[in-house]
Amino acid sequence: MTQDELKALVGQAALRYVEPGGIVGVGTGSTVNKFIEALAAMKDQVRGAVSSSVASTERLKAIGIPVFDANEVEELAVYIDGADEIDGGGHMIKGGGAALTREKIVAAQSRRFVCIADESKLVPVLGNFPVPVEVIPMAAARITRQFAAMGGQARLRLKDGVPIVTDNGQHLLDVSGLKIAQPLAFESEVNQWPGVVTVGVFAHQKASVCLLGTPSGVRTLDF
Ligand code: 5RP
Repeated sequence: MTQDELKALVGQAALRYVEPGGIVGVGTGSTVNKFIEALAAMKDQVRGAVSSSVASTERLKAIGIPVFDANEVEELAVYIDGADEIDGGGHMIKGGGAALTREKIVAAQSRRFVCIADESKLVPVLGNFPVPVEVIPMAAARITRQFAAMGGQARLRLKDGVPIVTDNGQHLLDVSGLKIAQPLAFESEVNQWPGVVTVGVFAHQKASVCLLGTPSGVRTLDF
C-alpha cells in the first residue's frame, strides 16, 4: 500500500467518530484532505464544521459543508486531524502544514481528538521531525537563541526565499535537534517565552485516539 492509500484508509475510518447532526472539528493536511473527501459522502448528516485553516475551509465549502467560526460554537464532540509525529502516549508534533495555532485552538474546544496518520508517524520519542513554532517576527532571533541554549537549531521557514506568513500573519521557526521525552513540560516551557504564539508540540491537547494506517488495516490506539 502506498502512503497515499494509507492516508485514505484512515480518512475513511475517521467517519465513524463523526456524530450525526453535529458540528465536527477539522484539521489540516494531506491526511485530513482524505477525510474531507470521505466526509462528502455523509455531508447531509452533519450540521457543519469548524476548520483549522483557510485551506481546509475552502475544501469543506467546496463539498457543501457549512463552516462555522470557532467563536460561534461552544464545544465540539470531536476534532479530526493528522500529525507529523505521534508517540506512544498520544503526544504529537504538528504544524508541518503551518496551521498549528488554529489546530490547537480547535483541539482545545473539542472533547476528543482523533488523530489520523499513516504508520510512519508513530515514534518512540518526539523530535526527529523539526518542531514548528509560530512566532511574532520581532522575537524570532531571541527565540532562536533560546532554542540553541537547549540544543535545538531553529530555522525560519521560507517559501521561494521569503518567510512564509501563517493564516494569523506570523512567521514559523522549524526546530531540529531536540529529543522531546517530556512533551508536557516542553510545551509548557516554550509556550511562556515572549513572542511564541504556539509551539507545535501537542501534549496539553494530545490525541484521545489515533487511527494508524498500516498495510494490514487500521490500528486503533487509545490514550
Ligand atoms: C498541519 C499539520 C498536519 O496535521 C501535519 O503536518 C500532518 O500532515 P499530513 O497529513 O499532510 O502528513 O499539523 O499544520
